Amino acid sequence: MKSLALLLPCLLATFTLAHQQHNVRRPFSHHARALGIKPTGAANGTTAAGTVAHPAAQPNGTNSTTPLDSPASSKNGTLSTPKVSGNGTSLRGSSGSNTTLNTTTTTTSSTAAGIVPVTSPTGATLPNSKPISGDGGWTAAVAKAKAFVSKLTIDEKVNLTTGVDTIGRCVGNTGRVTRLNFDGFCFEDSPVGVRDTDYASVFPSAVNVATTWDKNLMLKRGTAMGAEFRGKGVNVALGPMMNLARDVAAGRNWEGGGADPFLSGVHASQNIQGIQSQGVIACAKHYALNEQEHFRGGSGSEAYSSNIDDRTFHEDQLWPFAESVKAGVGSVMCAYNRVNQTSACENRRLLNDILKEELDFQGFVLSDWAAVVSLYPSVMNGADVNMPGFVAYGDPDEGNPAAANNSYWGLQLGNAVKNGTIPESRFDDMVTRLMAAYYQFGQDKGFPAVNFDYTTEETSVNGTIVNEHVNVQGDHYKLIREIGGASTILLKNTKQTLPINLSKVKNLAILGSDAGPNPDGPNSCSDRGCDQGTLALGWGSGTANFPYLVTPYEAIQTYVHSKQPDTIIQSVFDDFDYAAVNQTASQADTCMVFANADSGEGYITVDTNAGDRNNLTLWHGGDDLILITASQCANTIVVLHTVGAVLVEPWYDHPNVTAILYAGLPGQESGNALLDVLIGTVNPSGRLPYTIAKNRSDYPSDILYTVSNTSSDYIPQIDYTEKLNIDYRHFDSANIEPRYEFGFGMSYTNFSYSGLSVKMLATASSLASDQGSTQPGGITSLYADAVTVSFTVKNTGAYDGNEVAQLYLGFPASAHEPPRVLRGFERQLIKKGQSAKFSISLRVKDISIWDTPSQAWVIPDGKFTIYIGSSSRQLHLTKTFSL
Ligand code: BGC
Repeated sequence: MKSLALLLPCLLATFTLAHQQHNVRRPFSHHARALGIKPTGAANGTTAAGTVAHPAAQPNGTNSTTPLDSPASSKNGTLSTPKVSGNGTSLRGSSGSNTTLNTTTTTTSSTAAGIVPVTSPTGATLPNSKPISGDGGWTAAVAKAKAFVSKLTIDEKVNLTTGVDTIGRCVGNTGRVTRLNFDGFCFEDSPVGVRDTDYASVFPSAVNVATTWDKNLMLKRGTAMGAEFRGKGVNVALGPMMNLARDVAAGRNWEGGGADPFLSGVHASQNIQGIQSQGVIACAKHYALNEQEHFRGGSGSEAYSSNIDDRTFHEDQLWPFAESVKAGVGSVMCAYNRVNQTSACENRRLLNDILKEELDFQGFVLSDWAAVVSLYPSVMNGADVNMPGFVAYGDPDEGNPAAANNSYWGLQLGNAVKNGTIPESRFDDMVTRLMAAYYQFGQDKGFPAVNFDYTTEETSVNGTIVNEHVNVQGDHYKLIREIGGASTILLKNTKQTLPINLSKVKNLAILGSDAGPNPDGPNSCSDRGCDQGTLALGWGSGTANFPYLVTPYEAIQTYVHSKQPDTIIQSVFDDFDYAAVNQTASQADTCMVFANADSGEGYITVDTNAGDRNNLTLWHGGDDLILITASQCANTIVVLHTVGAVLVEPWYDHPNVTAILYAGLPGQESGNALLDVLIGTVNPSGRLPYTIAKNRSDYPSDILYTVSNTSSDYIPQIDYTEKLNIDYRHFDSANIEPRYEFGFGMSYTNFSYSGLSVKMLATASSLASDQGSTQPGGITSLYADAVTVSFTVKNTGAYDGNEVAQLYLGFPASAHEPPRVLRGFERQLIKKGQSAKFSISLRVKDISIWDTPSQAWVIPDGKFTIYIGSSSRQLHLTKTFSL
């Protein structure tokens, strides 16, 4: 093994890479969810609409409505027993070392008398987490931030690091520094566009843009989103989301970039560069291992512990976060859950050792909403900003953080600094990190003020204007439509069904509620917490309000009749009216049958799905609907809108199912994007960013839905026993045949591959033993190119089309890696009959493994294999190399 980082200088590639807050309270908070209020339009307990869960009780039964005691004056304040239970054991590094991703601090503590700061279990004083350094082009911003911070009083610093609860115009707001005319920060969701407002776009979900495997589209989407956030006056956009789709049923998978670390990392990096190019700070979330909704914690409820070994963490779940830091992300959101028994927002290993030290993260660590569960451990171990400020939803709001006695921080933070429990140097670094991001992205110069209010789309409340209805949509609908088309995956196409030949369509049936509108309107369910009409987003905080939603029915009917006004088009939107479906399908020469599967964030339950899906089958009886249609109609085209993989076994090979289109969650232009693919204006090139299995049990891990231990102190344990074998890697290593493999997707044309050439830019002797300099993302030389791979792809079919070429790397046997891991891809448009040259570079990190004993990336000795293919199993070219 060569210790990494390392390569000769020739390898060192250069990488290019205030707001008015009104104390106006509205009757219906956006966080009505937390108050146990039903979302508007949601039917009570019906199968269609969602219900909003009551927040869990306060930690350890603390009654948050009782004013808290004054903060303890010493860091050696009362300690309650740390809540560490379950198996309690750390997973060993997969290399066999004893080094683990273990943590050093305890969990929070509160007493009946109030919340007290706690120390490590030993009572030891914790050192500061690493201060911001200015690396990676942040020097000037850090200097400006320090100059600003030097003018602040302790209370003013508290105002910038603790939020104002649900008061304010954004989903999260810091306090202000009125003396210096500083209006504070606006934090707003979501990864699909500006949430909780009007005249903003709903972009295709992140999983859709990952499905395009097109870096440029990912960047363009981020840029357009950044422009919209800026136009609304949002300082920090709460995305991208990059938790991996480890469990296929996990509720929020659609908010992220799929199941593979590399693909998710490219998406995160491109999205961040796009958002931040507009002067808006992006937020990499949720750090880390926040990969299911059941027991996720937050707001005082007991949070699961995700238990992982150090190597798996570095190579899989940390990967997209590292790419985000490399891309210069200005903030990282620490998650609700625990990691290896310690809450993510007070986890020194995560926040200090890895994020701030190893990855040299500049910018600030922001808590997920009510995810901070302590004062001393969270502050000392690396959390910088506490949002929205209070201990838990349901607590009374306090608009002045410096006086907030309803927070683990707030008043207690100020007092802890004043009495020396928390060193002022650490406190200053928290504010400096926040302000450095502000200056780094030029928000001190002409950044718009917030012009909307997250709780209402009304213009004014009690005579105060709260929404200026600023239209930020531009012409983004074009990009939204393009990504929608580019992310549509063709899974099956027999009898030359697609692209559709309109002259043969005399009688068209369009079946299923997923083809049509939500009868109550596209935004009728709060945070999209229902599954009514066509599905274009999942539910939860990762949503935005549709300015409009083009349904498939609307787009298809309008188009067909513009070409052939006499075509019969009949629709049935009632999924269970089998008589109507039978009759309509039997009359038609072409049937399009629509079905979906939904999921979302755990604070809303839809049709008994508490965020995570209960099963992998289609909703609203989709399987039966498809089978009934196919029984009557020899040309049945299935269209699916889903949050992730569904089981297609009951009907995928039915001879009358002639085509299957997998359209994901395409956002506001859904119908138009689908139409483009149906009629061939767009030749499908979407590729699965996860595996579609034959059986649920084929997947390597699953949701922890229940625990047998009923003690209120019990911490649910989630062990990452699959280690590196996430998704397709498990199918490959365990030799399980999937239904449709990771990376799979068909085209209307055909491609042939030839001429693989592999050029090494490094040899064993060019590997240095030192660890080189560190920049955001880690050791600089990790990101230098090590190998370049090129090949030719020819379009041998009858249509122009995009091909997504994928590079999988087989590591030397000594590395104990999965058989193949994705390490590169490129999408190119190739005209029919023509060829295109593809070139993919592998960086040093791409050919390295995390070596736990040496805590370093190393290039393993032996033979590597490059596989080039059009999916993880359709591998057309291979070549080996050694370094
Ligand atoms: C979610 C975050 C979101 C925050 C603010 C939390 O419940 O986990 O993703 O950004 O709320 O809405």
